[in-house]
Formats: sequence, C-alpha cells, structure tokens
Amino acid sequence: MNQHARLDHAPIPFIDVAAQRRRLGRSVDEAIARVLGHCQFVLGPEVRTFEAELAAFCGARHAVSCASGTDALVMVLMALGVGPGDAVICPSFTFTATAEVAVLVGATPVFADVEEASFNLDPDSLRRACATARERGLRPRVVIPVDLFGQPADYDRINPVAEAEDLFVLDDAAQGFGATYKNRRLGALAPATATSFFPAKPLGCYGDGGAVLTDDAELAQVMRSVRVHGEGRDKYDCVRIGLNGRLDTIQAAVLIEKLKIFPEEIVARERIARRYSAGLADIAIVPRLAQGSTSVWAQYTLRLPSGRRDGLMAALKGQGIPTAIYYPTPLHRQGPYQHFPVATGGAPVSERLADEVISLPMHAYLDEGTQDRITEAVRRALA
Ligand SMILES: Cc1ncc(COP(=O)(O)O)c(C=O)c1O
Repeated sequence: MNQHARLDHAPIPFIDVAAQRRRLGRSVDEAIARVLGHCQFVLGPEVRTFEAELAAFCGARHAVSCASGTDALVMVLMALGVGPGDAVICPSFTFTATAEVAVLVGATPVFADVEEASFNLDPDSLRRACATARERGLRPRVVIPVDLFGQPADYDRINPVAEAEDLFVLDDAAQGFGATYKNRRLGALAPATATSFFPAKPLGCYGDGGAVLTDDAELAQVMRSVRVHGEGRDKYDCVRIGLNGRLDTIQAAVLIEKLKIFPEEIVARERIARRYSAGLADIAIVPRLAQGSTSVWAQYTLRLPSGRRDGLMAALKGQGIPTAIYYPTPLHRQGPYQHFPVATGGAPVSERLADEVISLPMHAYLDEGTQDRITEAVRRALA
C-alpha cells in the first residue's frame, strides 16, 4: 500500500470525465471546430470515418452508428422483424435497456438468471428460459447476453444453446465494448453487437450515442434504413417503419479522437482493477475474470455479505468517496417487468447479487494516491 495515500476527505469523482477531457486537450476542440466549419451536422463525413475505424478496432465488417445504446439494440430487433409472439431472452441482472427494447418492439422479454462468478448470463438458465417461453406459447427468437461491468459473457457456452434453440445472439456490449474473449474483441463474437457511447461508458462521447457491429452486410443495410425512418432509395421513399436514430456528426468527431486513446485507457483500467483486487481480495469478494477473458472494467464491483453494504457506503460517503449499486433490484422484480416470464427455477443469483454488490470509483485516470485512499477507507470500514 502506498504510504503517501492521501488522508483528506476531498470528494473523489466516481467517473472522472473531466480528467480525460484534460488529456484530450485541443484535439477534441479542433475536431468539433471542423464540424462547425463544414456544418454537416447530420450524417456528416466524420460519421462514416468513425464507423470504419470502430469496425476495424473490433474486427467486425460493418459498424452502424446510432443515437444511443438503446437504439442500437432496438435497431437490431426491428431489422430482424422481432415482434408480438416472439420471446427475447435476457438476463435479469442488467440495466433496464436490455429488456426494454423487447417490449418496445412488441415482443416479450423472458428473464434468465446469471452466474455468480461473472455476473453474466447462465447458459443453463437460458435453456430453461426457452422452455418457459414455449410453454407460454411464445417463439424464442433472440437472446441478449450482456457483458456486464465490462467482462464478456461466456459465448462458447451460450452459442451452442442459441444454436440448438434457433436463437439470434445479440450481444449487449454497452459496458464491455473493448474487452476480449479468447483473443477476439467484442463486436466480432456475435452476429450483432450493440454498444453505447453514453459519457460514463468505457468508450463514451459527449452526449448520447451508440453503434451496432456486425459481419452481415444485409443486416447492416437494413439497420441503416431503420435509423433514418425506414428510408429506401432516398429519404422520401419509405420502405419500412424506422426511427430517427442517427449519431450526431459532432459526437462522431469526438469519438474519433477518443478511440485513438481507448487502447491505452483499457490498459490503465486493467492496472487499476488489479490494484484494487490486490488491496481488497482478503476482505471482500473481488471480481473474477474468466480464463481467456479481459474486461474493460466499466465498473469495479465488490460483493459483501448481506447487511454490510449500507454501513460501507455511509462510511465511504463521509470521506468523500462515492459508491454505486448496479443493480439494486433485478429486472424481473421491477414494476414494469413483473408480469413477464422468468425461466423455470427463477433468478435467485440475480436476487442475491442485487443485495451484495457495490461498485467503487473506476476510470482510466484514477491515480495511485487516490486509489489507495479508497482502498484504505474500504479496509477500515470493513475491519
Ligand atoms: C447493459 C446496458 N445496455 C444498454 C444500455 C443503453 O445504452 P444508452 O444509455 O446509450 O441508451 C446501457 C446503458 O446504460 C447498459 O448499461
């Protein structure tokens, strides 16, 4: 432990977007100024450039950028024609957007449980969720595994179930984009991968944004139509129901600059996560990375025995250290989702995790002194 760890109580940001902003300096200002110069604010040249660079970054053939991570998920479902009578299987321990998109297209979300070690979709529960869907007269069409907190779901175990059940795999990489699974980056692991550029995400912009990655040229083309009101030959040739789902040119310009430093930021996040784990593994359950996986550490999430969390949060708050609970209530227990099916066997792991998890400040610019202050405060509070 660094002996010089600061003992002051100055507030620490949970995610320090401003530190990254300082590092990027004028490059972002100049990128935005270029857009202000050419005035092509909608689908300007930066959008195409960013899409090409994003696809190359993760090894996918096509990137279709859009207005948010939620739109990215919904565009895939719309392009596939998912709708009433279809079941979309998703984990219960995730952000609402994962399941919300199923409801938005008129399909039925069916909740599966997650695995304790990774917080990610349990392939056995996925199988049971398909059976539950069929019992309810629904047709299982899509599974949305989530790469929660930055770690990829276990695709080598999920894909065979998806294949046997004839499910389209839509990877929700809003938190995990940039991570690798058996040496391949997310974006190239599923027939379609959705990600988010919400500012707090590992690769975020300065507003809302998202993208879908795919190798399927036809799917990419349909999604390009969906994101502009279902346009055909041109904007006034309407061939399907779509959205206004475009990524702003200014956000694409910001993302081009941010993508340049993203690989270095991932390395920094990995180093910070390792330091947290080295300092806390003996007093809390620290996150476990599966063999062959890397994480982009969207969150660094501890597990504590039930009942200890509130005390820790209060103690840290008193010292200017913010914490967050992702997620306090699993989706199948949230009001708007309570009437949707849950896989046979329920989602007991999701329910337990919701009581035990707590996330610590995490970003690529967390310096060692500040990190030691956090680690020492956690240790003192749990002693
Ligand atoms: C797992 C997950 N999926 C989807 C989304 C939706 O992304 P957005 O906020 O860009 O719509 C988020 C964002 O918080 C997320 O964490």
